[in-house]
Amino acid sequence: MSSKSKIRLGVNIDHIATVRQARGTDYPSPLMAAKLAEQGGADGITLHIREDRRHIQEQDLHQLRQDSATRYINLEMALTDEMLEMAIKYRPQACCIVPEKREELTTEGGLDVVGYYNKITRFVNELSAHQIEVSLFIDPIEEQIKAAQECGAPVIELHTGEYSEYSVGSDLSHKELERLQSSVAYADNLGLVVNAGHGLHYENVQPIAKIPQINELNIGHSIVAEALMIGFKEAVQRMHQLIITART
Ligand code: PXP
Repeated sequence: MSSKSKIRLGVNIDHIATVRQARGTDYPSPLMAAKLAEQGGADGITLHIREDRRHIQEQDLHQLRQDSATRYINLEMALTDEMLEMAIKYRPQACCIVPEKREELTTEGGLDVVGYYNKITRFVNELSAHQIEVSLFIDPIEEQIKAAQECGAPVIELHTGEYSEYSVGSDLSHKELERLQSSVAYADNLGLVVNAGHGLHYENVQPIAKIPQINELNIGHSIVAEALMIGFKEAVQRMHQLIITART
C-alpha cells in the first residue's frame, strides 16, 4: 500500500484552445500556456483531442512534442482507432482513455471498462508496447477498478465530477468524498497508481489532495477561469496604455 508525500499536478490546457477556437485566431497559444503552467509548478500537461476538434487540434500536440522543454504530456483520448494512431504517432509520455460523446459539454461519467473490456485491453497493450503509460478514466466503482487492473492498465484516474457537483461541505459532497477515499484505497491495494480529476476547483480540491495514495490530480477549467480573473486587470492596463500612447 502506497502513501506518497508528493502529489503531482497535471494542468489541462484544453480551454486555452477553446478561447482560440471561438474566434479562429492563433492566440492564445496552448504551447505558451503549457510553458507558463510548468513555470507555475505543473508536473505535467494534459490535453484532450476530441473527435469534433472543438478545442485542442493535432497541431497543438505536434508543437508540444517538438518543444523539448515540455517534459510530461498526458493525452486524453477516446477509444477510437483514429486516436490510437495519433497516440502512437506522437508518443506522449501518458495517455488517459476517456469516454467521449459528441453532444456532451465535457467528459460525462467514466469509461465502462467492464462493457468494453476486450477493446480496452487491446488499446492498453498497444499503447504500452509503445512505452506510453496508460490510464483509464473511471468512476469510483469497485467493479470498474478491478476490470481496469485485469486489463493491464497500470494507472487509473478516478472521476471526481460527482463530488464536484455537490456544494462544498454538504452531506452529499462528504458522502462522495468517502466513496472516493475507499475507491482509492481499493485501487491502491490492487497495485494501481491512482490519479483523480474533473471539476476540481480552489474550494473543493483540498479534501481530495489529502487522500494519501493519490499520485496526481488533473485540473483545467478552474485554473483557466482563475487565470482570467488574476490577469484581467493587467490585460486591460496593457491595452489602455497602447491606445493612450498612440495619441501622444
Ligand atoms: N481528467 C479528465 C479525464 C478529463 O476529461 C478532464 C476534462 O477534460 C479533466 C481531468 C479536467 O477537468 P476540469 O477541466 O473540470 O478540471
